[in-house]
Amino acid sequence: MSTTTHPQDLGLFQTIQERHSVRKYETGVKIPDEELNEILEAAAQAPSSWNLQHWKFLIIDDKEKKEQLLPIAYNQQQVVESSAVIAVLGDLKANENAEEVYQGAVDNGFMSEDVKNTLVGQINGAYKGDTPFPRDEAVLNASLASMQLMLAAKAKGYDTCPMGGFQRERFVEEFNVPERYVPVMLLTIGKAAKPAHQSDRFPLEKMTVRNSF
Ligand SMILES: Cc1cc2nc3c(=O)[nH]c(=O)nc-3n(C[C@H](O)[C@H](O)[C@H](O)COP(=O)(O)O)c2cc1C
Repeated sequence: MSTTTHPQDLGLFQTIQERHSVRKYETGVKIPDEELNEILEAAAQAPSSWNLQHWKFLIIDDKEKKEQLLPIAYNQQQVVESSAVIAVLGDLKANENAEEVYQGAVDNGFMSEDVKNTLVGQINGAYKGDTPFPRDEAVLNASLASMQLMLAAKAKGYDTCPMGGFQRERFVEEFNVPERYVPVMLLTIGKAAKPAHQSDRFPLEKMTVRNSF
């Protein structure tokens, strides 16, 4: 079973400690929309470059669609046993969000129209040309939201598993993902039927360097 016994609101450090990748879920569990929305809204509180919010969540909770996803995800059963699979997509044209993002600040008097236009111009400039930048940004920023989603789910009493093991091209094709988006990862979410495998982490000395290599 899940190590989560609290219905919600674990402290942050406890949530982090208790989040592990669950691969066996209780079947037939529906996450109430309000709870799922709360989790997604918490995910979207993640920081992003220029606040462009480079993520799109494709929620796959329909039984037939999950069955369709199963072979695309190399038959990982968690796809069909979990309550939902959230495909986190990264926005390759997040610069197109800039106008909307900064207009709010202008309307609220936090930013002048001139500053907004300068910023939007800079952002569009960064996205110009055939460079890895848009893709790097899409994957980087959508990953931050993914992590936050997993922690928010855990704090709400659900478990998750991030999945990179799926055929991206086939997923894009079969789920009609517009060209604008790149699939970053799939996240299964639901009530654990079996605890996650034990996993350790490297000691701090192995993963830190102070000041310079
Ligand atoms: C980007 C990414 C891709 C992953 N892909 C898969 C996957 O396809 N299937 C799976 O069962 N677990 C997958 N995992 C889960 C990892 O195996 C797991 O996070 C790692 O072993 C650490 O264990 P923990 O999450 O339980 O702490 C993935 C994790 C990440 C971050």
